[in-house]
This record gives sequence, C-alpha cells and structure tokens, in this order.
Amino acid sequence: MAYNLLKGKRGIISGALDENSIAWKVAEKAHEEGATFVLTNAPIAMRMGQINALAEKTGSLIIPADATNVEELTHLFTQGQEVLGGKIDFLLHSIGMSVNIRKNIPYTELNYDYFLKGIDVSALSLHKMLAVAKKLDAINEWGSVVALTYAAAQRTYPFYTDMADIKAMLESIARSFGYHYGVTKKVRINTVSQSPTKTTAGTGIKGFGDFFDYANAIAPLGNATAEDCANYCITLFSDLTRMVTMQNLFHDGGYSSTGVSNTIMEKMGLE
Ligand SMILES: NC(=O)c1ccc[n+]([C@@H]2O[C@H](COP(=O)([O-])OP(=O)(O)OC[C@H]3O[C@@H](n4cnc5c(N)ncnc54)[C@H](O)[C@@H]3O)[C@@H](O)[C@H]2O)c1
Repeated sequence: MAYNLLKGKRGIISGALDENSIAWKVAEKAHEEGATFVLTNAPIAMRMGQINALAEKTGSLIIPADATNVEELTHLFTQGQEVLGGKIDFLLHSIGMSVNIRKNIPYTELNYDYFLKGIDVSALSLHKMLAVAKKLDAINEWGSVVALTYAAAQRTYPFYTDMADIKAMLESIARSFGYHYGVTKKVRINTVSQSPTKTTAGTGIKGFGDFFDYANAIAPLGNATAEDCANYCITLFSDLTRMVTMQNLFHDGGYSSTGVSNTIMEKMGLE
C-alpha cells in the first residue's frame, strides 16, 4: 500500500545492482511513494547488473558514477538536478565493497592496499558525495541522506574483517557531516544498520548463510528483509522524520538489543 510519502520529491539512489539489492527495493518503494529519481552505480556494475530493467520500471534515468571519483560525482549531481528539474530531496548511499573479504583474507593479515580501497569505496564515498552536493548546493533544505551500515561497527563479527572498521568510519562521517550540513542547510544524515540480507554484497561474506540463520534465531522479530529496509528508508526520506539526524538507526528485528534468545538456547541444548 502506498501513502504518497515522497510525492513531489526528487532523489538520487545509488547501489542497485540486481533485484536482491537493498537499493533496488528502495527505488521500487520510492517510485510507489511518488518520488522521481535518478539511479547511479559504478560504470562496471552497469555491465553486470540489470539496472536498465529497474530504470524502465521506475521511469528513471541512470547516471553512472564511480563513487570514489569526485569528478564523476560532480557530473552525477549536476546532471541529476538538470534531469529532475531542481535540487534533490533525498540521497541513498548503498555502496559497500571489501577486496579483503572477497579474497577471504583474515583480519589480522589484511592487505592494506585492499583496506584503503575498501575505505574509499565504502566510507569516503559518502563524504565525497556529501561534499560535492554541498559545494553545488544540490540538496534542498530538510533533505534527507541515508547510508546503509552494519552492526559490526559497534561489536566484533570476525568474518566482517575490515568492513567493521570501514562501517565505523561511515557512521562517523554521517554524524560529522550531519552536524555541518544540518547547521548550514538543515540537511539530515542518518545511517541504517540493517540485518544480514541475501544480496550480492551480503552473500559474498564467508559463512554468511549460517550467520544469517543465527541472527534470525536471535532477533525477536527475525531478520529484516531488504523490502523492510526499503520501507524504513522511505520513512527517513519523508517529512515525517524531519527532526531525525546524525543517528545510527538499527533496523534488525530487535537483534541488537537481544543478548540471547530461547531459540538459540534450545539449539545449544541448554534448555
Ligand atoms: N547485505 C547485507 O547483509 C547488508 C547488511 C547491512 C548493511 N549492508 C549494506 O547495504 C549496502 C548495499 O549492499 P547490498 O547488500 O544491497 O549489496 P549489493 O551488492 O546489491 O550492493 C552493493 C552496491 O555497491 C556498488 N558499488 C561497489 N563499488 C562501487 C563504486 N566504486 N561506486 C559506486 N557503486 C559501487 C555495487 O555496484 C552494488 O550495486 C552496502 O553498504 C552494504 O554494506 C548490507
């Protein structure tokens, strides 16, 4: 059911690779809720993904941009405003990649070139997007920016290796930039800390399937799906949450507040 929550709003949505992507679901929901937006992803992802189908379905234009490249981001925000007919109201940062994870390199033996690449792609890219947007004055007052993160920023999950540190940085950038952009333009910036979700980025992590089941057995409501996450992002883009900024918001079915569940105790044979 749609509520017209984003009627008349313009946005930029990054990170839709295929129909499992969280960003894909956000784009579908934003379209249902009356928004117009451009889609963006790294040029290389255009070849791998099915983003054209999403663009067609949502009546959106695709503007490729490597999120580590300030020039390409400048083009994205400039052309994005032209195409949409004005400043934007919402931005989704849904970008994550760790070569160390891809190559199964343990945390204590990280390759630092890969680590730096991961930081650039998955954390600094948020800073770069915001810096470009601010410089171009591309976001309307009370505009809303959401970046996706994971609970390994607060607690250790050994398999998440360097992405844990990178997500901690991402969340910090959201807070720091949220202050500056809030003071000058009333733009709000939050991170959503999502449950394990079966996407290309998620399932690329070793042991993801078992961990997905574990988290599902801990969370009183079970794991939040990509579609649930999209619904939550829509509320954050809407005017109903206009005083929420600089927050890391857990969207995980209660997982992060649960020490242990009866289901896990039973599985361990402890009850
Ligand atoms: N899947 C999970 O379990 C989970 C849980 C919590 C948070 N997240 C976060 O959600 C976000 C989206 O991931 P997803 O799970 O939907 O997976 P996904 O693989 O569908 O999306 C990741 C996206 O990042 C894009 N990307 C990578 N490098 C890029 C670059 N240089 N420039 C621009 N885009 C680039 C990819 O092309 C892809 O579209 C990520 O930040 C991820 O860390 C995922």
